[in-house]
Amino acid sequence: MVVEKQSLIRSFRERFPGSGGVRVVRAPGRVNLIGEHTDYNLGWVCPIAIDLACHIAWSHNEDGVLRLWSANVREMREFPVARLQELEPARHWSDYVAGVARELALLNFSPEPANLFIHSTVPTGAGLSSSAALELSSALALLSTRTVAAPAPPLLEIVKLCRRAENDFVGMPCGIMDQFVSAFAREGAAIAIDCRSLEHTPAPLPAGVKAVAVNSMVKHELGQSAYPQRVAQCREAVSILQRKHPEISSLRDARMEYLSDSGLDGVPLKRARHVVSEDERVAEFIGAASSGDLKRMGELFVASHRSLQHDYEVSCEELDFLVDNAIALPGVWGARMTGGGFGGCTVNLVAEDAVGAFEESISRAYRGRYGLTPQFYACSPADGACEL
Ligand code: GLA
Repeated sequence: MVVEKQSLIRSFRERFPGSGGVRVVRAPGRVNLIGEHTDYNLGWVCPIAIDLACHIAWSHNEDGVLRLWSANVREMREFPVARLQELEPARHWSDYVAGVARELALLNFSPEPANLFIHSTVPTGAGLSSSAALELSSALALLSTRTVAAPAPPLLEIVKLCRRAENDFVGMPCGIMDQFVSAFAREGAAIAIDCRSLEHTPAPLPAGVKAVAVNSMVKHELGQSAYPQRVAQCREAVSILQRKHPEISSLRDARMEYLSDSGLDGVPLKRARHVVSEDERVAEFIGAASSGDLKRMGELFVASHRSLQHDYEVSCEELDFLVDNAIALPGVWGARMTGGGFGGCTVNLVAEDAVGAFEESISRAYRGRYGLTPQFYACSPADGACEL
């Protein structure tokens, strides 16, 4: 869904009449193709930015405040610009913006008083990274409010401060994938990211195939506590592995054979097995994509899902249903859950000419089983965050 700059400016002016020049920034959501729960283990991921995005139109004000209007929830919030460093989380949508504003203030990039009109087409709770899109667009908008001549921080620093805002202010111990792809994505290709070195390369997809995200329309509460718990379980696995392999500092460094020679068992073994095998799958997926091997790409999708379902235990009944139904359909190369899990979306590799029939069959089956109509997003790799 493309949001027109001019219509956003018009809406801004209706909400904030009498404002001066208006500028507009956007930052996209994402679908992760493969490499799930590997980013905070410093492994590899392969997401694409999508054309659903958070847009912010802004203009300076004379009131000494950052004034935020969310067109999605129709709510206003205000923060005195002089006191951004003292902001505390309020468990509210505005925390994502406030957390970014606070980080900027702490780094001496304090924004200037402005009215922000926020409109996002990234659905919340769908695992398409609406929060990173809000953080990145906020960072770009807030940095552009500054009238001092000093340059803005480099894009990578902006990515890191957005992640810190989410880790330290919002309280979600996420990895760097979502903020990174929202900033660095380029139209036309997925990006393969090494979450330790932060090197990234384009990973084009073969012609004739579409990545279709299917929103299960559910978000189970359990996900809230399960994510930090998985982060902790991975740390525990690392500390057990370190007894035999002291050179390891994250699961990214572990190899499959270490898992059996280190006395790992039970839950830490399952978690480590997912992460180590998922890193291998990302490397193989990128190779298969570059040689146009759709069959292998699809198999890796399904293997990734099974690993998330049984070893990492972050799937749920609805996601499993969507995957199982999808892979039985003609023209579907593979399917898996995408994002943190416990609801949200699956991502499906579907032959271009089979997309219509795929959507129809999945919709019918899902409605029949759960009484919910899933939403579909055909994901063409989009550009990262920018001013419009
Ligand atoms: C969420 C987090 C990401 C990543 C994924 C799982 O989207 O924000 O950092 O860990 O879950 O791959």
